[in-house]
Amino acid sequence: MFNASASLAARPQIDKAHRRVAGDTVNDMWQSNVALASSALLLCLGGSAGCGSPPASPMGQSLTRFPEDAFPIPVDNQPTPARVELGRLLFFDPVLSANRKVACASCHLPERALADARHVGAALAIESGGVLPRSTPTIFNVRFQHSQFWDGRADSLESLALMPVENELEMGSSRDKAVRDVAAVPQYQTLFREAYGGEVDENSLRRAIAAFLRTVTANQAPVDKYLAGNEQALSADAASGFALFFGKARCSRCHYLPLFAGTEGPAFVATEFRITGVPERGKSELTRDIGRAGVLGLPEQDAAELRHAFKAPTLRNIDKTAPYMHNGAFDTLEQVLDFYDRGPESRGYSVPNLDFVMQPGPLRLSSDEKRQLLAFLREGLTDVSGLPGVPASVPSGLVPGGTPPPLD
Ligand code: HEC
Ligand code: HEC
Repeated sequence: MFNASASLAARPQIDKAHRRVAGDTVNDMWQSNVALASSALLLCLGGSAGCGSPPASPMGQSLTRFPEDAFPIPVDNQPTPARVELGRLLFFDPVLSANRKVACASCHLPERALADARHVGAALAIESGGVLPRSTPTIFNVRFQHSQFWDGRADSLESLALMPVENELEMGSSRDKAVRDVAAVPQYQTLFREAYGGEVDENSLRRAIAAFLRTVTANQAPVDKYLAGNEQALSADAASGFALFFGKARCSRCHYLPLFAGTEGPAFVATEFRITGVPERGKSELTRDIGRAGVLGLPEQDAAELRHAFKAPTLRNIDKTAPYMHNGAFDTLEQVLDFYDRGPESRGYSVPNLDFVMQPGPLRLSSDEKRQLLAFLREGLTDVSGLPGVPASVPSGLVPGGTPPPLD
């Protein structure tokens, strides 16, 4: 199930199939719900029964109601408090990096909803500085996606866990060195024995980090209460923005409920990659990053079709994670909305295989509608109550959270 090469071969078929479906079940369910709600409102004006009752929440729209088997947890890494706590300590401990200064939390900052404030990440492993190729995404709700990273090159959290450690720009270490460095700390030896019943090794190191990542969730935003039937949970503007998101603005055609990301219900079996044609930052030309197409192991034909495709990321906590897109092309949500609103014609460059949802041209959102959409994105989707606590100290004795990245 967690075999990387097998699922890399299988998933592009799903990607393509999904891109060609002209509508999506969950979205359509909402469309009909919104339609039902408006007709109920009309009936209300006519004095009929049913007035004031909120639209019924469609099934499966809550993060807490995902189908049980949609995001399986490996049998050898079922969560226990000891495993999760060990993973949390490792996440904040710079012991995993070669220079003993970089922790996972150096780039995934709690005060930025576990992203950072930079256009693209900082190459913290390099003394002389430099940048990473892409921006740092939040890690909220990563357990609810089948593909990790902007291009989906990792398909499980266990397989992702040591990639930043080995990345020469990020933490600059190696699997072996990280295992040795962690095992050299007596407190970790005890914690690993308690959590995994043995010595520190590569497998238990991966599992501890993944076990922690699975616990970092955000599902208490105002939109969750709204979806549960509390109409007061969104302001009037945000509620209008919510309707626009599922209607005229077409956002829900790619950012699906309940993650507001490319993992589509009702089965939630795949995470989608879409071609929106984001520009190079500050330029009027297509991004040079080929995204999904650059992932090793894709059949040639799929790679060609997925050039410049990126994972449709979660919009939960989007207010806190600027700048936006894989390359930080946009500094503000206003700029993101303008990008979608203007449509492909006005961009001054063409985009091969542009997603069919983007093709019909400008959205023609009025300034009021943009304000309402922004209100929804900002107030409706924000919930950082599930942020992990920063430990007062970490077993290595190094600085918890490591060195923060320089501003860019
Ligand atoms: C130097 C900065 C940096 C450090 C350190 C770092 N990350 Fe990241 N992280 C990034 C960037 C940048 C990306 C996006 C890379 C890409 O998509 O190609 C990312 C992506 C991720 C993702 C995928 C999220 C998604 O939605 O696809 C996870 C999960 C993650 N990192 C966890 C970790 C863990 C665990 C550690 C520590 C072992 C860590 N990161 C250390 C910068 C960093
Ligand atoms: C055709 C599919 C599609 C549609 C329609 C779409 N998005 Fe996206 N969205 C994506 C993809 C794919 C990305 C990542 C693109 C990239 O990084 O190059 C993205 C990125 C974003 C981001 C940046 C996320 C981050 O973490 O940096 C925001 C904000 C966003 N979209 C909001 C919206 C809104 C609001 C709408 C409706 C007006 C919308 N999207 C419509 C697919 C789509």
